[in-house]
Amino acid sequence: MQIRDLTSANIGAATSLWVRAGLTRPWNPPELDLQRALDGGTSTVLGAFDNDRLIGTVMVGHDGHRGWVYYLAVDESQRGTGLGRQLMSTAEDWLRKHGAVKVQLMVRSTNETVLGFYEHLGYEAAEVQVRSKRLT
Ligand SMILES: CC(C)(COP(=O)(O)OP(=O)(O)OC[C@H]1O[C@@H](n2cnc3c(N)ncnc32)[C@H](O)[C@@H]1OP(=O)(O)O)[C@@H](O)C(=O)NCCC(=O)NCCS
Repeated sequence: MQIRDLTSANIGAATSLWVRAGLTRPWNPPELDLQRALDGGTSTVLGAFDNDRLIGTVMVGHDGHRGWVYYLAVDESQRGTGLGRQLMSTAEDWLRKHGAVKVQLMVRSTNETVLGFYEHLGYEAAEVQVRSKRLT
């Protein structure tokens, strides 16, 4: 198993993994998110490969101070083997290397089962409320 930056060639495999993992929404084309993260100077998408098969991903980026993690997904056949932990640790290392001092993430309120995983990895509930507004 090897973790490395994805390229445009991996977009199909990554978006298929995200759909299977329940991370996509019909109004938000995931391939655009992925391409933007690859093109941006402060972000990337890391992929775990078993030979050439994509078995996990995590998107990571920063605003100069805080780092953010998105699209953490492990192929169902590989869950429970430590890969999710390894992807999070690699994302945290990427952020440290880029000067971020804090890492944050958002969990959809419909995805409460994953909260235990993050808590286990040391992620605490933050005293903030998120507000959002569509611009398009
Ligand atoms: C969340 C996800 C990435 C976890 O990946 P995984 O490879 O199965 O997790 P790991 O095997 O690395 O688990 C790491 C540790 O967390 C623990 N853990 C995993 N899921 C847990 C849960 N729901 N509650 C509590 N602990 C959990 C494991 O027991 C393991 O403990 P250990 O390292 O002390 O032995 C995977 O379940 C997934 O892809 N889910 C669907 C997509 C998703 O919801 N992503 C998050 C979007 S916010």
